[in-house]
Amino acid sequence: MSPLKSSILAKPITITAATLFFLLLTTTTTTAQDFDLESECTNKWIYIRPLPPQFNVDPLSNCSEYPIFDNFCPYVSNHGLGQKTHNKSHSWYRTDPFMLELVFHRRMLEYPCLTFDPNSANAIYIPYYAGIDSLRYLYGPEVNSSFEHGLDLFQYLYHSDSPEIWRKNSGHDHFLVMARPAWDFSQPLSNDPPIWGTSFLELPEFYNVTALTLEARAYPWQEHAIPYPTSFHPPNMALFESWVSRVRRSRRTTLMLFAGGGGISANPNIRRSIRLECENSTSTDVNGCGYSELCEFVDCSNGVCEHDPIRFMRPMLQASFCLQPPGDTPTRRSTFDSILAGCIPVFFEELSAKKQYGWHLPEEKYEEFSVFIPKEDVVFKGVSIVDVLMNIPRAEVRRMREKVLEMMPRVMYRKHGSSLGLSAKKDAFDLAIEGVLKRISSRLKEVAAQ
Ligand SMILES: *[C@@H]1O[C@H](CO)[C@@H](O)[C@H](O)[C@H]1NC(C)=O
Ligand SMILES: *[C@@H]1O[C@H](CO)[C@@H](O)[C@H](O)[C@H]1NC(C)=O
Ligand SMILES: *[C@@H]1O[C@H](CO)[C@@H](O)[C@H](O)[C@H]1NC(C)=O
Ligand SMILES: *[C@@H]1O[C@H](CO)[C@@H](O)[C@H](O)[C@H]1NC(C)=O
Ligand SMILES: *[C@@H]1O[C@H](CO)[C@@H](O)[C@H](O)[C@H]1NC(C)=O
Repeated sequence: MSPLKSSILAKPITITAATLFFLLLTTTTTTAQDFDLESECTNKWIYIRPLPPQFNVDPLSNCSEYPIFDNFCPYVSNHGLGQKTHNKSHSWYRTDPFMLELVFHRRMLEYPCLTFDPNSANAIYIPYYAGIDSLRYLYGPEVNSSFEHGLDLFQYLYHSDSPEIWRKNSGHDHFLVMARPAWDFSQPLSNDPPIWGTSFLELPEFYNVTALTLEARAYPWQEHAIPYPTSFHPPNMALFESWVSRVRRSRRTTLMLFAGGGGISANPNIRRSIRLECENSTSTDVNGCGYSELCEFVDCSNGVCEHDPIRFMRPMLQASFCLQPPGDTPTRRSTFDSILAGCIPVFFEELSAKKQYGWHLPEEKYEEFSVFIPKEDVVFKGVSIVDVLMNIPRAEVRRMREKVLEMMPRVMYRKHGSSLGLSAKKDAFDLAIEGVLKRISSRLKEVAAQ
C-alpha cells in the first residue's frame, strides 16, 4: 500500500474512534433530561465493557489486506453504513452487511439506558468486532489457528480487566454481535486442519455468552439471528414515510423476481429450478393476468449487486413476489431488501427465515406476509412457482403487501442520531436489544434456579 493511501485510510478510522467516544459522553447526558430514566429503564440497563482497541478499532486498519476477500475500507465509513449511494441521498447507503458490528456499536452508544455501573446492569455488551477480526482466520495468514479465535478476548474478559464483571454471572449476562452466519464460527475443535470457519461458538469459554448473528445454526445454542442490514437507513420520519408511500404507490408489473447468482449447475436444486422456470416464462405471452412479465431474473453473479442497491431495489419495487431460495447458506440479505420494497417474500425452506428471525418477524405472522413453497415440491414434484403465485387472488396479494409494509420498520436499521419521531418506532436494533434483555433475564433465572 502506498503511504498516501494508508494515510487516507487511517484518517476516517481515527475520527471514528474519537467520535464514538465523544458521542458516548454527549448522548448519555442529553437523554438523562429527556425522560424519567429510573422508570423507563427498569430491567433495561446495559453496561458497555471497555475493550482495548485490538478488539475493535485495530482490525479495521487492515481493511485492505485480505487479497481473497474484498477490500472493505469503503464500507467502514459512516459508522459502518458505508458511503451514500449518491451525494444527495439521505437514506440510502452502500451498506455491507458484515459491517453490522460497527453499526450496532454506534447505535449502542445512543441507547438511552446505558449505565456506568456494571453491578446495576441487566446485560453487558462486548463491543468486539468478531466478524471483522475473524477475517484473519477465514481469509488471512492465521487460517491454521482458527480454533484460537476468541481466546485472547476471553483472556481479557476473564483474567485481565475487572474479572469480577464476568464472574458475577459467569458470563451469562454478556452479549456481542457476530455479523456473519454462525456457520462461519462453528468449526469443530477436532477438525485439523480446519475445513471452514473459526471455532468461536464451539469454545466452552463462550458457551454462556449470547451472540447475535446474521444466521443461526439449525440447533442454535448461544446465538440468535437478527436481520441483515439493508441499504436503507432513514434519519427521520419524513424520509421514512415518503419511502413507504412510494412503495405503496409502486405499480407491480412483474409477478415474481429473483435477485441473486448461481442456478447454472446441472444438478437439480431450487435455484436451478427457478432459473429454468424464469427463462421459460419470460417469453410467455401474458394475457389478462395484469402482469406484463411473469418472472424477472436480476443477475447478481460475482457480487455485482452487493454495494449497488439500485440494481435490485428498482425491479423489486415493480414485482409482487420476491423469491428467496437458500444460497450457500439458508438465509439471504435479499429477504430484507424485498420487505423494504414491499415485495412479498417467497420462502422454500423454514430455515431461511421462520426458524431464524423470531424477534423481528413473529413466527405466527408468516402466512400473512409471505408465501411458503417447499423446495422439494418444486425440484422433484414439478410444482410450478408461477402457478402457485398466479392462483393467489389479487385482493389477498394486496392484503399481504400491507402486512409486508407493517414489517418494514422492524427489519430496518435507522440511521444513528435519528429524529425523535423516527426513534419512537422500534427498528431492528431496538428489537434485537429487547430480545437480548429477555433472553439474558430468563437465562439468569435458570442459572439461579440450578
Ligand atoms: C460528491 O461530493 C463530493 C464532495 O463534496 C465531490 O467531490 C464529488 O464530486 C461529488 N460527486 C458527484 C457525483 O456529484
Ligand atoms: C494487521 O495489521 C497489523 C499492524 O499493521 C499487522 O501486525 C497484522 O499482521 C495485520 N493482520 C493481517 C491479517 O494482515
Ligand atoms: C495451513 O496448513 C496446511 C496443511 O497443513 C498447509 O498446506 C498450509 O500452507 C497452511 N497455511 C498457512 C497459511 O500456514
Ligand atoms: C458458564 O456457566 C456455568 C454455570 O452456569 C459455569 O459453571 C461455567 O464456569 C461458566 N463458564 C465460564 C467460562 O464462565
Ligand atoms: C421449459 O420449456 C421447455 C420447452 O417448452 C420444456 O420442455 C420444459 O419442461 C420447461 N421447463 C420448465 C421448468 O417449465
